[in-house]
Amino acid sequence: MPPSSQKNFPEGFQHYPLYFSLSQQQDLIEAVKQGVAAAPFFQPTMPRTGAPLSVVMSNFGPLGWVTDKEKGYRYEAVHPKTDKPWPDLPSLLGNLWDAVTDFPARPEATLINWYKEDKASKMGMHVDNDENDLRAPVVSVSLGDPAMFRIGGPKRGGPTQGIKLFSGDVVVLAGEARLCHHGVSKVFYGESALVPKGGRINLTMRRVNGVNRP
Ligand code: SIN
Ligand code: FE2
Repeated sequence: MPPSSQKNFPEGFQHYPLYFSLSQQQDLIEAVKQGVAAAPFFQPTMPRTGAPLSVVMSNFGPLGWVTDKEKGYRYEAVHPKTDKPWPDLPSLLGNLWDAVTDFPARPEATLINWYKEDKASKMGMHVDNDENDLRAPVVSVSLGDPAMFRIGGPKRGGPTQGIKLFSGDVVVLAGEARLCHHGVSKVFYGESALVPKGGRINLTMRRVNGVNRP
């Protein structure tokens, strides 16, 4: 029984502890290293204020999530600095999507968030709602240092539940959980040696565009 079922998590919240073995986690880190060799981590900034987010980002797949002062949150087919397409989605991640969702199309965007110790990176409470098709689940993978993930309800500012995510864990936000506020309140820096320069990497897979279904 996953720990998530023991608490009052929103319907559709699924937690798969240690979905990926250590050797698969190492393969995923290798894929991230190759990805960011082609599409380097960039510093996202908030719409309007231009304040930097505390994470740095890159993406896999035909679309990548980006944000900056001028144009705000959006999906783009090319990297904001290199103007080149994002690297292909690693097969381990495509297979994960197929295994944990029944959505009939693969996600276009997989965001790579690197939570860095020197920046004390966290992620404020937010809803993922920049996608055109909000029916597809969001699937995310935790690698490296553990983190306190918090999830609330559809309204901002309500009560939240916390769950500690460890390296290799997978979280699915489907059903009601898909549009619930969530964030990362704390990273337990220095606990894992998986990420070469330390910290935590989160891979978030999202379907952006609709799919014609029979
Ligand atoms: C996010 O919701 O964008 C990231 C979640 C996480 O890092 O676990
Ligand atoms: Fe999110």
